[in-house]
Amino acid sequence: MAAVEALFEAARAAQARAYAPYSGFRVGAAIRTPEGQVFAGCNVENAAYPQGACAETSAIAAMIAGGGARIAEILVVGDGDLLCTPCGGCRQRIREFAGPETPVHVAGPEGVRRRFTLAELLPYSFGPDNLGA
Ligand code: THU
Repeated sequence: MAAVEALFEAARAAQARAYAPYSGFRVGAAIRTPEGQVFAGCNVENAAYPQGACAETSAIAAMIAGGGARIAEILVVGDGDLLCTPCGGCRQRIREFAGPETPVHVAGPEGVRRRFTLAELLPYSFGPDNLGA
């Protein structure tokens, strides 16, 4: 299976398990690490709305808990006609573990709709380098 197809399948499986009773908008995300591991996550909403987590945030948490350290590529899948691009906060969270050329695939239920680089979504970003890390 092609690498992006495997990410799509993992993200779709996570999306199906999303907890989104308030927005009704289910999102899945999947990360491939440079070592080839795949970690997925979904959005997890909360009655106290700001406490909800995005799918990308959940996937990053799964990656860190699973021993991964870097994002080689990430795929986000959402329903609807519009591109389900990562929110601003998640672009910054992805940035922590990725570089400017890291691919960010945006998918709908039928498959990948568009591929961005992280730098396209978050130009002139602030990151660990700024802190000498
Ligand atoms: N959401 C994500 O999980 N990822 C995105 O890239 C965009 C938005 C979630 C947050 C919230 O649970 C729901 O979608 C509606 O905003």
